[in-house]
Amino acid sequence: MNNPDVKQQVRTFYDQVGWKTIGEGVYQNARYEDLRPVSREYIHRCHLRVNRFLRNSGDLLLDAGSGPVQYPEYLTYSEKYTHRVCLDISMLALKEARNRIGDHGLYVVADVANLPFKPNTFDGLVSLHTLHHLPLADQKKTYMEFLRVMKPDSSAVVVNGWTDSPLMRTARPFILFMERLGKLISGQHEEDKETVLKSACFGVEPPHKEPTGTFIKKFNPEWLKTEIAPLAKYEIFCWRSVNVRYLRAIVHAALGGKLYLKLLYRLEEWFPKFYGEKGQYPLIVLHK
Ligand SMILES: C[S@@+](CC[C@H](N)C(=O)[O-])C[C@H]1O[C@@H](n2cnc3c(N)ncnc32)[C@H](O)[C@@H]1O
Repeated sequence: MNNPDVKQQVRTFYDQVGWKTIGEGVYQNARYEDLRPVSREYIHRCHLRVNRFLRNSGDLLLDAGSGPVQYPEYLTYSEKYTHRVCLDISMLALKEARNRIGDHGLYVVADVANLPFKPNTFDGLVSLHTLHHLPLADQKKTYMEFLRVMKPDSSAVVVNGWTDSPLMRTARPFILFMERLGKLISGQHEEDKETVLKSACFGVEPPHKEPTGTFIKKFNPEWLKTEIAPLAKYEIFCWRSVNVRYLRAIVHAALGGKLYLKLLYRLEEWFPKFYGEKGQYPLIVLHK
């Protein structure tokens, strides 16, 4: 698929599926998030990590691939700025964003890889879970575009998952075991009991059904080192070390899930660079 086709497909997906509401303020897209009470505090605190790397005040904050600014924590990123510029290729995303933040926002339909702004415009920049919707060459271009539009001495925060996280890879057999056990206990998938037992007992991997979505291309820390390090200064911290599949399979209130997540959060705070590189979601700070 060539670039315009990819972007058109992504736009159509978000306009027609991703940003359609399935409940009060809840989007289809939320099926990629763990919204259970047991994980709420951990997820809330991970979202707030972004604030640490942004300037305390300023005129304009760019939210590149803003979506509808869907979580309350996202509002805090631009609290100390006069305006938040929400940029997205999905019209629906921007309409929803306007419903949320009204006049605090300025709304621009554009491609993150071709920003329609002058150099040195923004005091701060965030981009969450967006770059993976672009082909790799465009992701590199987007990093350069971010640098171009940032003011000198400012920072951008980019959050995206790695292609392959060593921590999640190591946890995989345990995730599979817990998933199959959960299904066995709840009586779901009666027809599947033999596979469940094989999986639980012998580690035979059953087919996993990912939710169908749209174009995704992720990278690993090596790609950043070869493609971005020669052109820009960046640091990797931890946004969240575990993915939603891990949370849903392993973290349960009845099994001390809240306490476990408190401990995990502490570990991520003590070793942010380790969990940033080895965990699922890095928080990449780009310096100008
Ligand atoms: C997974 S959502 C994330 C939205 C929001 N940042 C969040 O974390 O909730 C990805 C968003 O990026 C937008 N997007 C994807 N490709 C884009 C591009 N090339 N230019 C601008 N926005 C894009 C999509 O329309 C969608 O709203």
